[in-house]
Amino acid sequence: MIWCGLDIATEFSEALSSRFDTVSETPVGSKPDIFFLCSESTHALCLSFIDDCVGGIPESHILAIPDGEDAKNLTVCETIYSWLQNNQAQRHSLLINIGGGALCDVGGFCASTYLRGIEFWNIPTTLLAMVDASVGGKTGINLGHYKNYIGTFTQATHIFITPHWLKTLPPAEILSGWAEVIKHAILLGGKAWAQVQQPIPNTNDHQAWLSILEWNIKIKSRIVNADFEEKGERKLLNLGHSIGHALESWSLDQGTPIPHGNAVAWGLVIETALAIDLSPLKEDTKSLHEQLSAIVKRLFIPIHFTQDNIAALMNFIKADKKNQQNNLLFSLAYAPGNCQFNIAVSPEDVIQILNDYVGQAD
Ligand SMILES: NC(=O)c1ccc[n+]([C@@H]2O[C@H](COP(=O)([O-])OP(=O)(O)OC[C@H]3O[C@@H](n4cnc5c(N)ncnc54)[C@H](O)[C@@H]3O)[C@@H](O)[C@H]2O)c1
Repeated sequence: MIWCGLDIATEFSEALSSRFDTVSETPVGSKPDIFFLCSESTHALCLSFIDDCVGGIPESHILAIPDGEDAKNLTVCETIYSWLQNNQAQRHSLLINIGGGALCDVGGFCASTYLRGIEFWNIPTTLLAMVDASVGGKTGINLGHYKNYIGTFTQATHIFITPHWLKTLPPAEILSGWAEVIKHAILLGGKAWAQVQQPIPNTNDHQAWLSILEWNIKIKSRIVNADFEEKGERKLLNLGHSIGHALESWSLDQGTPIPHGNAVAWGLVIETALAIDLSPLKEDTKSLHEQLSAIVKRLFIPIHFTQDNIAALMNFIKADKKNQQNNLLFSLAYAPGNCQFNIAVSPEDVIQILNDYVGQAD
């Protein structure tokens, strides 16, 4: 169940009471089977609100793990598994993930593997997690600098999405999520594509955000429901990600990580440049590339890499999970609302397009 609205306090506490069938005198938050996982930031910024909703959570049932990518590794998973075990979490226990995409990814992964799987709910607190990471059932951690290499396909049974949390998000994190909003707008075309050409709404404008969140959740859910395990259509959600993930992994490798959304935004630009020659609708693809470049240049700082870095980037591109045998398979946009998956591209064409980007970015 995905809920998107403003009164999360009522919705969340009612769902929890109904899950645990509570007698009214017992605060639902103190039930021994509920575990709250947050990051250091969401512990400081979001937990007290949730704590008030559920009438108090015992300290032992709250775990704060590092913020961001630092949490997406096996060491942190072991901390989470041990915390659950030390507090007698059982098969019927519930893990509630409160945080951004990284927290939802690692929390979902641990829930889906602890005791071969316990139920988990997501309360996404970043824009990216609201429109993307918390929805769709992909859980995961990184393997070294290879992003999301270990994971499961397991759906959160409840997801509570509200623009309420956006007000404390740093502008860079709003931008990071906006890249996925742009990706969804390319998939949808029409009004959604027109909307992302407009300025990003102020975080106080809850009505504007509700409408944006709703169409994002709708397109993501529609594609996920059609192809949960990414055998086909779901690969469309990887638009911009073959190159975006490579940029992200490479920057992590260099010790200067760039935000996921920034990498995806430039991945979308570079991949639409690549799509022009392969497209049956060359003029439309060219126009999409130009409009997209204008949006991305206006909002996102450029990513700098040189010709010397292209071999390393190609290694990450070749490791992309969408590839089959030695073939590079991309999802490409030909026009807003017209995108295809499993498009074979030659490594030479990718190298050429990365070289062109170096030339233009300098
Ligand atoms: N599973 C999926 O389908 C999927 C899809 C897209 C991305 N992802 C993953 O999501 C991750 C990126 O997610 P993200 O962009 O949310 O970054 P993030 O999870 O790293 O969060 C960014 C920062 O914002 C902080 N934060 C969270 N909520 C906040 C709030 N309300 N106010 C202030 N600060 C807050 C976090 O603690 C962190 O420091 C990547 O690891 C990516 O691989 C997963």
